[in-house]
Amino acid sequence: MQFEQIKGFAFDLDGVIADTARFHGQAWHQVADKVGTPWTRGLADGLKGVSRMDSLEMILKAGGHENDYSQDEKVKLATEKNDNYLKLVATLTPSDILPGMKAFLDELKAAGYSLVLASASKNAPKVLKYLQLADYFEGIVDPASLSHSKPDPEIYVRAAELLQLPADQVAGVEDAQAGIQAINGAGELSVGIGANLHDADVRFDSTADVSLTNIKKQLG
Ligand code: BG6
Ligand code: MG
Repeated sequence: MQFEQIKGFAFDLDGVIADTARFHGQAWHQVADKVGTPWTRGLADGLKGVSRMDSLEMILKAGGHENDYSQDEKVKLATEKNDNYLKLVATLTPSDILPGMKAFLDELKAAGYSLVLASASKNAPKVLKYLQLADYFEGIVDPASLSHSKPDPEIYVRAAELLQLPADQVAGVEDAQAGIQAINGAGELSVGIGANLHDADVRFDSTADVSLTNIKKQLG
């Protein structure tokens, strides 16, 4: 894929723009303790990018508890997790934007790229407000309107629709394997941030390294 044809960027939020993946993890850890599922690094990583109810199902399944809770009890557990998560994110300020991301967003805007958000989080508008970044994005894919969680490409297909661009003119930015698979499945250019994102077209160890120049460099 040629970088020159890219006209818009779709961003994941949690773990890309702010370190909220840590807060999701903390809040889910409490649920795992409650239901008796051992909290492991593998489970924590596997939950990244996955919707609220699908995350709960994964936690229950990891401990062999998938048949132990009624639908009402599951909704209660997910609500408890979200209440705890909301307490954690309410402390966010613009100083919590991950290193280099504000500069990257400014660089993209100055260069004329259109930006949208492709986060699975129903709390994304709130988090963007706390970070004072809401004005950077021309649209936010509403995760409540989606039928499938990442790694399904649906959210990135919708992001391209919001951008009014064909897939091959869109780049997606993600910190999780499920997200990279979703971008690739949508036929867009995938930019991965973090370790073990082997399928990403372009990959960085840290948000601090992400810039237009460095993306172009990797694409040769
Ligand atoms: C994703 C996170 O962005 O949003 C997941 O990576 C999270 O960890 C998902 O479960 C859904 O978030 P929320 O805020 O709607 O529960
Ligand atoms: Mg993420």
